[in-house]
Amino acid sequence: MSNETAILEPSPQGISRAATILQAGGLVAFPTETVYGLGGDARNGLAVARIYEAKGRPAFNPLIVHVPDLETAREYAIVSQAAEALASAFWPGPLTLVLPQVTGSGLSPLVTAGQSSVAIRVPAHPVAVALLRAFGGPLAAPSANPSGRISATRAAHVMDGLSGRIDAVIDGGACAVGVESTIVGMVDQPQLLRPGGVTVEALDAVLGHALTSGGSAEAPTSPGQLLSHYAPRAGVRLDVLAPKPGEVWVGFGPGCVGADLTLSQSGDLLEAAANLFHILRAADAIAGAVGIAFAPIPETGLGRAINDRLRRAAAPRS
Ligand code: TXA
Ligand code: MG
Repeated sequence: MSNETAILEPSPQGISRAATILQAGGLVAFPTETVYGLGGDARNGLAVARIYEAKGRPAFNPLIVHVPDLETAREYAIVSQAAEALASAFWPGPLTLVLPQVTGSGLSPLVTAGQSSVAIRVPAHPVAVALLRAFGGPLAAPSANPSGRISATRAAHVMDGLSGRIDAVIDGGACAVGVESTIVGMVDQPQLLRPGGVTVEALDAVLGHALTSGGSAEAPTSPGQLLSHYAPRAGVRLDVLAPKPGEVWVGFGPGCVGADLTLSQSGDLLEAAANLFHILRAADAIAGAVGIAFAPIPETGLGRAINDRLRRAAAPRS
């Protein structure tokens, strides 16, 4: 649409302006507790096509539909008892459920890339909730970054990647969680499709059994599981305790003496997740860096989501 991107305040006026743009089929980036989303009307094929175009996203990669509550989710998806248990425990919050789609849901087939399932999320961020209510419909919203690049956790990150390609961004400050939602497939047996803001440990506790891992990079169930993703310009190495000359070393925990940057000085995974994408961008912006080297992060709790994103950032580019 327009080639100038408006920066809106998270005020009732800003939200009302954003809702008007969305109702007209335009695109608005908005804060969620995980990352910024690039929103468009999920019922409007043209709006959804604009999302794919603005991101440069392969059209086979389906989008998450955001709704304000479980009741609204039922208009679009069939929520089984097991799915409802997860929804009650973690909505609103950083959990996306892939569910069978209701026949005649009214969602554009482009949102689901023609699949019969649909990914639904109820975000917790007050600005996202206010926007969903003001707009009055389901919002398709992938992360607000060019496809394959680092996700945006601040309005300035959104502008870096998408300025001039979208109508507006609501500036709601930094995202508290910092990594995307956990995606659980609930079409058959519960399956972890992407680790994220809700830990596997917390999901297991509600399910009463260990969640199985679904899909893989070679045969992705969730097409976002393509291996190279979140790619900075510089190369990335992981589990580094002794960086090479010229590498930007990103530490974790008090042991990383001499690190150029740190995900968390005290070794706090919550803080590390919140900092992840900002630090990845900051490291990539350091002039003359020959690469970015990350210290080891424990593979527990949010560390699972952090390591997942870092492995993709480090993966060979296609
Ligand atoms: O935290 C988040 O989830 C953020 C915020 C904005 O809500 N959104 C986000 O969207 O990360 P995106 O598009 O970057 O990632 C969505 C993932 C993709 O990997 C996609 O393949 C998967 O969800 N997905 C969407 N619909 C699906 C479906 N029907 N079946 C399987 N995977 C699906
Ligand atoms: Mg994304």
